Amino acid sequence: MIQNYISKAAVTGNLIRDEIIALLTLPEGAERDMLFAAADRVRKECVGDEVYLRGIVEFSNYCGRNCLYCGLRRGNAKLVRYRIPDDEILAAAGRVRDAGTSTIVLQSGEDPWYTRERLCFLVRRIKTELGLVITLSIGERPFEDYAAFREAGADRFLLKHETASRDLYKRLHPDSQFENRLKCLAWLGELDYEVGAGCMVGLPGQDLGALADDILLVKKIKVDMVGIGPFIAHPDTPLAAMPDGDVALTVKTVAVARLLTRTTNIPATTALGILDPKGREMGLSAGANVMMPDFTPVKYRSLYDLYPGRSGVIEPEQVIQSIRGYLESQGKSIGMGPGFRRKRE
Ligand code: 5AD
Ligand code: SF4
Repeated sequence: MIQNYISKAAVTGNLIRDEIIALLTLPEGAERDMLFAAADRVRKECVGDEVYLRGIVEFSNYCGRNCLYCGLRRGNAKLVRYRIPDDEILAAAGRVRDAGTSTIVLQSGEDPWYTRERLCFLVRRIKTELGLVITLSIGERPFEDYAAFREAGADRFLLKHETASRDLYKRLHPDSQFENRLKCLAWLGELDYEVGAGCMVGLPGQDLGALADDILLVKKIKVDMVGIGPFIAHPDTPLAAMPDGDVALTVKTVAVARLLTRTTNIPATTALGILDPKGREMGLSAGANVMMPDFTPVKYRSLYDLYPGRSGVIEPEQVIQSIRGYLESQGKSIGMGPGFRRKRE
């Protein structure tokens, strides 16, 4: 039965909810290996053997939201807040380019200090001075802002849906609405961004059905990128005492997402690498094809405290070097082009 589900998914890109749940339930063993191998084959066939790098610069850790799981939530009074001055952001962007990375991801909390005008100015400067592909990851904004950023030169936008369960979404996000999240994702698509959504795995109260819904949602709304990472409990949040997400379940979710979305770009997430030293490699061998080294200048990096374990001081160039070695041993390489999503089938 399981074998049938796996081949059906690999051939048609479709599964129903119960079939997804069955795959997410697989214990360690031959069938699970078969799932990972199928995801790896579909990855090879649909997006090739190149792994794309996206250099992240976390330019502000101010956030107006109070998501229960996140260390940047406005209720976390312990956190020292920063905004990186534009010239330092530009210098970090230069480092992204010098490392041979074609894409910069500008990420921040939901920080209203960055008005439409300020962000457009920044995006335009990075575009004209460095020519990088620009991904924004700055949260929910009005349509007009998204339109202006696109016009200024932004190419992609990451806005994880976090969980497809309406009920769970409501409990975890006291001040935002799932419907608005979906509306923002639709706007971004209309504006011809490459759009990324995605979820956390192992959120308190999330069951396998909710996780299956996450995969079905990203398929349904036809996003170009899918970010899937384990929940990691942060000590200064209301979820401090909750258990972390499960690494194996996260990798299974990545594998099923690859089978069902085929040509999307899927990162082996930082959070996966934090919970298990082999986590990123496991992701890359089960469907992921993107890595996101952190180019935030060291003095700010530990303050971008979404979840614990991120404060390692390994420089991104060094991270890229070790990824290169690993990929070569796997018959893969680092992608040198921009790594846009391949044409949809
Ligand atoms: N564990 C894992 N991921 C988290 N994020 C925020 N807090 C946590 C946490 N405690 C992720 C969310 C968000 C991204 C910026 O970081 O998915 O989209
Ligand atoms: Fe802010 Fe994003 Fe953290 Fe929510 S997940 S508190 S919006 S940085």
